[in-house]
Amino acid sequence: MRILSGIQPTGRFHWGNYFGAIRQYIELQGERQNAFYFIANLHALTTVRDRNALAQNTLDAAIDLLALGLDPNRATLFVQSDVPEVSELCWLLMTGTSMGLLERCHAFKDKKAKGLTADAGLFTYPVLMAADILMYDSDLVPVGEDQVQHIEVARDLAASFNYLFGETFVMPKAKILDSSARVPGVDGEKMSKSYGNTLDVFEDPKSLRKQIMRIVTDSRPMDQPKVPETDHLYLLYSLFANDEQRGAMAAKYHLGGFGYGEVKKALADLAVDYYGEARERRKEFEAHPERVREILADGAATARKKAADVLLRAQKACGVK
Ligand code: ADP
Ligand code: TRP
Repeated sequence: MRILSGIQPTGRFHWGNYFGAIRQYIELQGERQNAFYFIANLHALTTVRDRNALAQNTLDAAIDLLALGLDPNRATLFVQSDVPEVSELCWLLMTGTSMGLLERCHAFKDKKAKGLTADAGLFTYPVLMAADILMYDSDLVPVGEDQVQHIEVARDLAASFNYLFGETFVMPKAKILDSSARVPGVDGEKMSKSYGNTLDVFEDPKSLRKQIMRIVTDSRPMDQPKVPETDHLYLLYSLFANDEQRGAMAAKYHLGGFGYGEVKKALADLAVDYYGEARERRKEFEAHPERVREILADGAATARKKAADVLLRAQKACGVK
C-alpha cells in the first residue's frame, strides 16, 4: 500500500498547511518505499515565475518538511522535476483527456469566471497531478478537500487508459485530511497565502508575537462571557494547547472577565514553544544544505526507479515502445 502526496513550494508554510496537511503526512509515514512525498515545483511554475524564488522556495520546503519531522528513513522525499518520467507520462495521459473534463476543474474555472486568461499549464494542471499519482502505483493520496476533484480526474484518466489499453494503472483513492483542522487566519477567515492572513511555522518568535498581538478580535466588554468554539483566537490556541490547557481556557471564556491580550500572550507562548525543536533542527539543515540536497537526490533515485517501471508499462500498453 503506497501513500503519496505533493505540496507546492509557493511560499513559506503557515499554520494552516501544517495542521491541515504536513502534520498528517508526517503521521502517515512508515516505510520508505511506501510513503512518497514530493515538492511540486512543476505545478508551482504555473504561478511562481521567478527562477530564484522558485529554487529557494523548493529548498526551503524540503528543509521545513525535514525540520518538522519528515524522516528520510521512513518516507521518500523528492522534488517533482527530478523525475522527468512524470512529464512524459503526463503527455500519454493528456492525449486521452477530454477538454470538458478539464474545463470543469475548479482552478481553471475560477480563473475564467474572474475574466482572467489561463495558461495551458493551469488548464492541464490536473493531468500532471494525475501523472504524479499514477507514476508510482499510488494507492492512497492524502489531500485537503480542495484537491479531491483532482484525484477524481486521476481516477477517470486511469480508468479510461486501462479500458483502452488494458490494466496498466493502479486505481488511487483520496484520503481526505481532517477538515476540522481548517485553520483560521489572523482575520478569522480561512488561513491562506492568497488572503495575506497567515502565521508562518518558522516565523521568528519576536515577529510572530507581534503578528499574534494583531489578531482581530471582537469588541465585546471584558466582563461578558464568550463562546470559545466560535472564536478564532480560541481555535488557534486550541491547536497548540493540551486538553487541560484547552479546558481551562474554555472555562475562562464561559466566565468572562478576561482580556483577549491575555489569550494572545498564552497563544504566542505555546506556539513559540511548540515549534522550538523544529526551529533548532531547521537551523542545522539550513547550515548544511548539501545534506538536504543529498536526501532529495536519494529520494529522487528511489522515485525514478519506480517511475521507470510504470512508464515502460504505460508505453508498451499504448504502443510507443
Ligand atoms: P494556501 O491556501 O496558503 O495557498 P495551499 O493551497 O498551498 O495553501 O495548501 C497546501 C495544503 O495545506 C493543502 O493540502 C491544504 O488543504 C492545506 N491548507 C491550506 N490552508 C489551510 C487551512 N487554513 N486549514 C487547513 N488546511 C489548510
Ligand atoms: N495540487 C496539489 C496542491 O496544490 C499539489 C499536488 C501536485 C499533489 N501533485 C500532487 C497532491 C499529487 C497530491 C498528489 O495542494
